[in-house]
Amino acid sequence: MFILFQAINTIFANLFKTDMNFTDEIKRRRTFGIISHPDAGKTTLTEKLLLFGGAIQEAGAVKNNKIKKGATSDFMEIERQRGISVATSVLAFNYKDKKINILDTPGHKDFAEDTFRTLTAVDSVIVVIDVAKGVEEQTEKLVQVCRMRNIPMIVFINKLDREGKDAFDLMDEVEKKLQLKVTPMSFPIGMGYDFQGIYNLWEKNINLFSGDSRKNIEDTIAFSDINNPELEKIIGPKAADKLREELELISEVYPSFSQEEYLAGHLQPVFFGSALNNFGVRELLDCFIEIAPSPRGKHSDTRMVEPTETKMSGFVFKIHANMDPKHRDRLAFIKIVSGTFERNKPYSHVRLNKSLKFSSPNAFFAEKKEIVDISYPGDIVGLHDTGNFKIGDTLTEGEVMNFRGIPSFSPEHFRYINNADPMKSKQLEKGIDQLMDEGVAQLFTLEMNNRKVIGTVGALQYEVIQYRLEHEYGAKCTYENFPAHKACWVRPENPKNEEFAEFRRIKQKFLAHDKYGQLVFLADSEFTIQMTQSKFPTVKLFFTSEME
Ligand code: G4P
Repeated sequence: MFILFQAINTIFANLFKTDMNFTDEIKRRRTFGIISHPDAGKTTLTEKLLLFGGAIQEAGAVKNNKIKKGATSDFMEIERQRGISVATSVLAFNYKDKKINILDTPGHKDFAEDTFRTLTAVDSVIVVIDVAKGVEEQTEKLVQVCRMRNIPMIVFINKLDREGKDAFDLMDEVEKKLQLKVTPMSFPIGMGYDFQGIYNLWEKNINLFSGDSRKNIEDTIAFSDINNPELEKIIGPKAADKLREELELISEVYPSFSQEEYLAGHLQPVFFGSALNNFGVRELLDCFIEIAPSPRGKHSDTRMVEPTETKMSGFVFKIHANMDPKHRDRLAFIKIVSGTFERNKPYSHVRLNKSLKFSSPNAFFAEKKEIVDISYPGDIVGLHDTGNFKIGDTLTEGEVMNFRGIPSFSPEHFRYINNADPMKSKQLEKGIDQLMDEGVAQLFTLEMNNRKVIGTVGALQYEVIQYRLEHEYGAKCTYENFPAHKACWVRPENPKNEEFAEFRRIKQKFLAHDKYGQLVFLADSEFTIQMTQSKFPTVKLFFTSEME
């Protein structure tokens, strides 16, 4: 009996690391992204979080990581942004006993695909909304992706120092437009000119916003009983009455907070504040570290992988090219899913069936990167790469599996790419190949004539590609319109039936292969997609490369 018990114990210990340090390291990690429509205050909030963590000393350090409005043809600006965004791709810092990893998500809509991919590597998100503008387009798109994946979300309503929408109306808007179920964790006392502070439902206290300068938190006063007559003295009788009424309404209308529901992605706590004035940010952060999830398991094509497993596994969610064109190496960003990633240990690159060792894996801190010996689940490691990695690649200790959930989404713009300098066709090919691996855009090769079509999320990418091909690879290209509306990945129920043969014959001109060789139908309109689906019901069309 004892021997049997010991054997089971050994098997268990081999599968899951049971030493306390390892599980503690996982539990203390919080890896998340901040998403918003441009200008809602994502950069300002990120910066304030870093200041709290003591990771930066002054405001303005992250600020420059933004693609400025109207920068579409300013290539030096794009290059500069690329440089800065390596440094701010992952911002890690310690706060209290937690290790926080913030993954940067570009707000610019032309880089939305980059943001979608980064969302595959976060364990939770904070959604920032401008109190005056309410729910905007980009927020809707990003939240939809998070909702589909049940990513736990916290909402931060920002710019309370300005006149904005009524707090209840705004929560209504969030529920309707974003299809979320919210529960306020804090509530504003007045707004704009009359903004006095915030009642914190989580900690049951009031934070007052100082009158004149409107720059500081004046005081935090604890209120275990909201009917305490002291409230009148502090915020005035009118505001006190209003606050009591509002809190009563909240308790009647909104569900109380449940961590379980939040973690399941079914309930979203809401905070109010002003990032610029550092108001409500500490409350957000303190609550976040308590309730937000530590690294969670991830599905691979063969099984669910838990962070506590001994063997290392991870996947590439971002690739960044070297800024210096003389050095072709790139930085591949890996999210560690399980086990520990160790320097100089051989790992298996599943797609290439190749063993690779990394002598200088980088970890990221607020403003710098450093070589690290060991990284834990939830951490992001930057690996120098000479062309082995593509986005979505999996690293393991030998197990053959691929992490799921890193699909390509259908691009919105399509253009033929032509070689403008026949002497440089090799360079052009190499350049296109590498830029596609980085995920700058998607390449489709037409079946009929092998012509190449580049698909992008935004028009800006075409200029970026043209510029980078010329400056980094010495190749020149031109574009020509290709009349496609959407890329549909094709999966026939029966590749040998008549219907599929007929589909191929009729749609011949619009069939292509993506970079993995998967068949794609480049449809010219929504109408065509509908017609095709009804005419060829056994030929399934999907809008992501994972065909789900
Ligand atoms: P983003 O990353 O989401 O695009 O937004 P960002 O933080 O850059 O903020 C956009 C603008 O909103 C900035 O002003 C910023 O100062 C301002 N802002 C952020 N939080 C608050 C807040 O709580 N209250 C108020 N009143 N404004 C806020 P800007 O003029 O565009 O830039 P800057 O000149 O201040 O850098």
